[in-house]
Amino acid sequence: MEFRPLTLDDAAAAYQATATALLLPSFTPAQLERRLEAWSNGHSWGAFDRGRLVGHARALDLETTVPGGVRLPTAGVTSVGVLPTHTRRGVLRSMLAGLLEDARRRGAVLASLRASEATIYGRFGFGVAGMCATYELAGGSRLRPGARPVTHTVRLLEPQEVRAAIPALHEEVATGHVGAVGRPAHWWDNSLGEFDDPGRSLTRWVAVSVDEHGRTDGYVDVALDDHRPSPGVARVRRLVIGDLFAGSDGAYRALWRHVLEVDLVASVIAPRRPVDERLRWLLEDPRAMRTVQVIDEQWLRLLDVDAALAARRYAAVGASVVVEVRDEQLPANAGCFRIGPDHAARSTDPVDVRLDVTELGALYLGGVRAADLAATGRLEERRAGAAAALDALLAVGAAPWCGSFF
Ligand SMILES: CC(C)(COP(=O)(O)OP(=O)(O)OC[C@H]1O[C@@H](n2cnc3c(N)ncnc32)[C@H](O)[C@@H]1OP(=O)(O)O)[C@@H](O)C(=O)NCCC(=O)NCCS
Repeated sequence: MEFRPLTLDDAAAAYQATATALLLPSFTPAQLERRLEAWSNGHSWGAFDRGRLVGHARALDLETTVPGGVRLPTAGVTSVGVLPTHTRRGVLRSMLAGLLEDARRRGAVLASLRASEATIYGRFGFGVAGMCATYELAGGSRLRPGARPVTHTVRLLEPQEVRAAIPALHEEVATGHVGAVGRPAHWWDNSLGEFDDPGRSLTRWVAVSVDEHGRTDGYVDVALDDHRPSPGVARVRRLVIGDLFAGSDGAYRALWRHVLEVDLVASVIAPRRPVDERLRWLLEDPRAMRTVQVIDEQWLRLLDVDAALAARRYAAVGASVVVEVRDEQLPANAGCFRIGPDHAARSTDPVDVRLDVTELGALYLGGVRAADLAATGRLEERRAGAAAALDALLAVGAAPWCGSFF
């Protein structure tokens, strides 16, 4: 087997192999052409068996917002697949090693991915740093009286306005959250492309919130899912929320009110939302919002532990903690670091907590508690109370959340 970085000449085979591995329909020539146009937005590694491409893994150049607001260069690992004839013989391991070492050399501090299965990536240093939830709201659910927005209005965009308005608005209102990533141009080509086609009949719309000064500060992307349960039976209409990002509390209220006030729908489904979604506290009947699923969202791997620890902010608590990190795949990361309220740096002081880079990835955004990892044997506490002290330093307000799938 041969493992190497891929070029544009390999791209079509790489995408088709990924589709086969992920049990997705194969790409049409038009779909493939769009992907090839966006090839330069990432870096791919492939595996070849006697010249035939049998595995593919790709890294997009992204940025992740970390506690304190710094946006760190991130390898967004995606399109991972190995043909079913070649699984479980180390293909993924070899491709990931090349891909992540390359990404680190190019200056990526983090790697992030969304996993098809939760049993694959821990061994490669990825920890679950953020969860997300799917909610279902009964049609006719209402906001509490008194929670109604008085200052914001909602405007439906004309389809031809969407492409010009939404990417910049997302950048403005969505990327400040801990765990968020900015979305590259090709992403928007894929997600909003249908709005550009004047001949296309759409069952999807985008609405924006406008504050009392006329400033647009949030948007919601809504798709209609419409089917007949059986012939002759009335249609069941559901709204599916693609994106809902708000830059203010008023925008948040106004956008949710808009969604809930759409007539003729049986329910609203909101997938991949924050686990601490505030909507519940705005509803007249909090039980009208049902949590359908809570699942891991972002898997994070620190590619450069020194840079990652130095970049994020820590809470202003008294104590500091010395953490020893193990990293078999990227040994330059291994060593001891003192994490304190002001900064984190290498240290030769006695170790308080010993952990693997996988667990450090889970803790890094502040959404997972070291005390829980210690209690479940995923982290070794060498000084009593050190895990709790580490939690106090790493704590953030809202739960880390991205809301972008790649
Ligand atoms: C997941 C996938 C990429 C793994 O590729 P692979 O070449 O078989 O993986 P490797 O042989 O390099 O396995 C490396 C390790 O991961 C383990 N592993 C791989 N896939 C696994 C899975 N689906 N579940 C649990 N463990 C898995 C292997 O057992 C091996 O463990 P070890 O190092 O302890 O021996 C491949 O099975 C695949 O394409 N699956 C379908 C598509 C998919 O899920 N892609 C991932 C999208 S995020």
